[in-house]
Amino acid sequence: MKKIVIAIDGYSACGKSSTAKQVASRLGYTFIDSGAMYRAVTLYLLNENVNLENINQVEDHLDQIEITFEDTSILLNGKNVDTEIRTKAVNENVSAVSAISAVRRKMVAQQQTIGKNKGVVMDGRDIGTIVFPNAELKVFMIAEMGIRAKRRRKELLEKGIDEPLESITRNLQERDEVDSTRIDSPLVKAEDAIEIDTTNITLEEQIVQIEELAKEKINEN
Ligand code: DC
Repeated sequence: MKKIVIAIDGYSACGKSSTAKQVASRLGYTFIDSGAMYRAVTLYLLNENVNLENINQVEDHLDQIEITFEDTSILLNGKNVDTEIRTKAVNENVSAVSAISAVRRKMVAQQQTIGKNKGVVMDGRDIGTIVFPNAELKVFMIAEMGIRAKRRRKELLEKGIDEPLESITRNLQERDEVDSTRIDSPLVKAEDAIEIDTTNITLEEQIVQIEELAKEKINEN
């Protein structure tokens, strides 16, 4: 059966990754959380005490960063960093790091390599616009801020991280602003993306909606 590329973009904490992961698993596709890649880069730079405002210093470190995936886990230079990339320090710095063009070039090249044989579900901010502008299915997810913050808090608690709702909300607002206004590949809805508002639907409903759209695309291709 013909394989397609599914691009899922949208704001932080709209349920992109949880949905993309399940859609991929149901279709037997590879799932890539591109946000986790930017988070892993941020974690590395923070651990190395790199001055994130010094672009040259950041660029000098990029060759030392190797990101790989093992099932749905992310490895930074061979080490599983699934939990470490969700800390407050990473949340607070990831938007600045992902606005740096050299960082984006490295991530986008790797993402395009992963998707070149199709059969991939990738979620992020620029997947339908920059990484896979020809993706057969593009989804843009939105949700109200209140529900996004609550969902993110629950997700963090499940990982053992107890962050107050107000601080989560502030961080989401700040990241929305930086991600949508940066010069290189800002978060915008691709013209041909299908918008899904997840405020009042369950995770299972989101998954089924996208799975059905995907099946239509697979059958029409
Ligand atoms: O999806 P997330 O919240 O884990 O993403 C973390 C940050 O990474 C997000 O605030 C912006 C950046 N990002 C990006 O610039 N491009 C992507 N394709 C994915 C994420």
